[in-house]
Amino acid sequence: MSDVLLEMRDITKRFPGVLALDKVKLEVRYGEVHCLIGENGAGKSTLMKILAGAVSMDSGQIFLEGQPIQIISPYHAQQLGISMIYQEFNLIPYLSVAENIFLGREPRIPGTPFINWKKMYAEAQEVLERVGLKLDVRIPVAELSIAQQQMVEIAKALSIQAKIIVMDEPSATLTDHELKTLFELIRVLRRQNIGIIYISHRLEELYEIGNRVTVMRDGQYIGTYEVCDVTREDLIKMMVGRELTEEYPKVSLPRGKERLRVKGLTRKGAFYDINFSVHAGEIVGLTGLVGAGRTEVARAIFGADPIDTGKIFVDGQEVKIHSPQEAIKNGIGLLTEDRKNQGLVLGMTIRENTTLANLKEITNGFFLNLAKERQVAENYVRDLQIRTPSIEQIAQNLSGGNQQKVVLAKWLFTQSRVLIFDEPTRGIDVGAKSEIFKLMNRLLEEGVAILMISSELPEVLGMCDRILVMHEGHLSGELSRNEATQEKIMQFATGYKKQNVA
Ligand SMILES: Nc1ncnc2c1ncn2[C@@H]1O[C@H](COP(=O)(O)OP(=O)(O)OP(=O)(O)O)[C@@H](O)[C@H]1O
Ligand SMILES: [Mg+2]
Repeated sequence: MSDVLLEMRDITKRFPGVLALDKVKLEVRYGEVHCLIGENGAGKSTLMKILAGAVSMDSGQIFLEGQPIQIISPYHAQQLGISMIYQEFNLIPYLSVAENIFLGREPRIPGTPFINWKKMYAEAQEVLERVGLKLDVRIPVAELSIAQQQMVEIAKALSIQAKIIVMDEPSATLTDHELKTLFELIRVLRRQNIGIIYISHRLEELYEIGNRVTVMRDGQYIGTYEVCDVTREDLIKMMVGRELTEEYPKVSLPRGKERLRVKGLTRKGAFYDINFSVHAGEIVGLTGLVGAGRTEVARAIFGADPIDTGKIFVDGQEVKIHSPQEAIKNGIGLLTEDRKNQGLVLGMTIRENTTLANLKEITNGFFLNLAKERQVAENYVRDLQIRTPSIEQIAQNLSGGNQQKVVLAKWLFTQSRVLIFDEPTRGIDVGAKSEIFKLMNRLLEEGVAILMISSELPEVLGMCDRILVMHEGHLSGELSRNEATQEKIMQFATGYKKQNVA
């Protein structure tokens, strides 16, 4: 018997203005974790949506267990044993876990159209146990964490006896601990001979979990390799199409005047007595384990959550911030982690999204200066290398990473003096990451102060001038660029060491 489970050949797909896939191929073996990598907009998700029946291909062939197949719909793909866990989840928030798992194929009471709830709950419980999830299957999905939702998606895949499970950037939203659980589960799936296609921008993951890797670039197939045979540098070179000289293009500028200071900031249950400052021309990193309270601090400074006590100063003046509008007025911008929900209007064009938070910049009296708006959008598309046929593309049609770049453009255009970036490079490819860092450098030169929240220690060490570490709602340490190491940060982050932070 052949060891090939799935073969996709010469897959071609054109969208208006974009050749998204140009004769791409992919081969997946039984029990293999096959990683799929490439820059934002390379065509990874499109290839997988074709496999999952959500997008139709223009030409090409697909073979499952040696048989040619025509996939006509997502439902059909499921019946064939192909399950996809999307970059954006597909669960219906107000339905229960059990209903989501059995959506469209609910067990019935024999001879009647009525759902056999008892049976459905029991079976749902059983599949959840297979993925090691202890959870009441009657609660609505909306009440679950992102990680739990992902597990429910995987449970759903198992319950339809999937032969192939596609995971599109599963790690982008998971904590380290949750990721470990996911990897354990992937190992279990592999032993059941299921083929797994795993998309990620974090190359470390592929060395941890992958068997083979296929590289795509600009809608083209570049190559397939055994993971143990290629180095990280080789992979980056193949994805980007050139040598990436600097992953972290740090420039050190003289420290300018104080832009932001917080004093005794407290929000009970989230963080306590937080004190720090950020100066013009510097990037201050705020790190710690997920759940340490970093995002909460950022939200409070931005006026998205109230504070119990404490003061905020911008350029030496105390400011009272009760809403994001007031924060923006005071020159503070926040790029959230959750760009999908908080950053972007999906139905609007790149041009409209870019200027959304700062319309006054492009209006003359009552009128929108369209020419200026276009110019602004064109500039950001070029600077951030947003992959799109034009600035009139609606955000919905952009690849995940390119949507994030549009959110970034929007905040850059507000011309904030203080910018808070919450996990700025999640889901962003290596080439674009380095571009985003260069852009941060430019902002610093213009006198902006940057607070960067990140869990990726290499990027914190690579880009920050100072590093603040949080542990369980408290600042547990501060390190200068020169003294910081992964070990020292982890000692503060885990509460093993503590320091008085002024
Ligand atoms: N529905 C659509 N309409 C128009 N263009 C589209 C549509 N879907 C995808 N594209 C374009 O096809 C190209 C490939 O996008 P795709 O989402 O497959 O990229 P990706 O490799 O998954 O990127 P990322 O890492 O950012 O998620 C992009 O240029 C994207 O803008
Ligand atoms: Mg994608």
